[in-house]
Amino acid sequence: MPLVPAHIQALKPYEAGKSIEEVQRELGLKRIVKLASNENPLGVSPRALQAMIESLQTVNRYPSPDGYYLRKALAERYDIKINNVFLGHGSEGIISLIMRTFLLDDEEAITSAGSFITFDIQAQSRGIKLIRAPLKNFFIDLEAITARITDKTKIIYLANPNNPTGTIFKVGSFLDFIKTVPPRVLVILDEAYFEFAHDDPAFPDSMQYRLDNVITLRTFSKAFGLAGVRLGYGFAHETFISNLMKIKLAFEPSSIALAAGVAAMDDADFLERTLHINRIGKAFFYRLFERLGIQYIPSHTNFVTIVFDSEKEVMRITERLLRKGIIVRPLKAFGLPHCIRVTIGLEEENELFAKALEQVL
Ligand SMILES: Cc1ncc(COP(=O)(O)O)c(C=O)c1O
Repeated sequence: MPLVPAHIQALKPYEAGKSIEEVQRELGLKRIVKLASNENPLGVSPRALQAMIESLQTVNRYPSPDGYYLRKALAERYDIKINNVFLGHGSEGIISLIMRTFLLDDEEAITSAGSFITFDIQAQSRGIKLIRAPLKNFFIDLEAITARITDKTKIIYLANPNNPTGTIFKVGSFLDFIKTVPPRVLVILDEAYFEFAHDDPAFPDSMQYRLDNVITLRTFSKAFGLAGVRLGYGFAHETFISNLMKIKLAFEPSSIALAAGVAAMDDADFLERTLHINRIGKAFFYRLFERLGIQYIPSHTNFVTIVFDSEKEVMRITERLLRKGIIVRPLKAFGLPHCIRVTIGLEEENELFAKALEQVL
């Protein structure tokens, strides 16, 4: 028996977007604009920051294992019971936990190609069979997912809006799709970009349907500006939540994260400013890409994906942008080697990106 199981050896590590420090170190540049990881360019909510500073006074104590106050605040906001709310170390922490809690070795999971690859890595780490339905013109194809359900299917993962395409599937197609899913199959609806999409009446807000076999995942990493704190949450039927509670690390999330989450939820002003600069930045990007004749995928998120003819062109552009201090995300690892994902930044950052892109082209 090998020390490291074959399915783990075969895994490729997740490649995060390049960090600002890394690029500063490698290229000796002072000003770096990072538009690569869909983070909030406004910084941290002032209320969350204050709450985190205060929480530092008590870090000698373990955090509340049931995250009572944050779960209560989320339950009240969404008009559900506290027993329907789960907290984790980022939504990716919850994805990992779901895979450990509910999957048996001979069961299967389905996702879409061109979607959030953390799910793929976590599924493969369990050594189970992972099936990827193809995208249809950059959209998640729910019919193609239904066609791949078998007697062994246990989990279906859907990111809506999808990362890295920024597209959504609409209310009607979601409701048609969910009828095709047997009740024994658990659907993970990852709504990491919910706040950027929910104003669109076509967006199916999963919390309106309260389906027994759906786990909704959301995060404080994007609209709430807390990516470094690692705080995600999930809503689901009590049965799922109570079993996830058994398996989770007893003291995740940290007390700093719990304090930040409660305060961030109350910071309506920060959220409003976030959505405002995102709207303006997105319109600026669309105009830019139209002017430069670059194909882009209209987005329901805080990023826009642009489409080129080849991987070679993508690598050339990404590399040259990097030398000018602009970090964007080439999408080879996501299965879209001819695409680049650009996070919407502050006005000034978007302008620097625009200028650099024009020069590079
Ligand atoms: C679809 C999707 N889900 C989850 C995450 C991760 O969120 P978290 O920081 O809460 O782990 C991301 C981050 O990029 C994402 O795009």
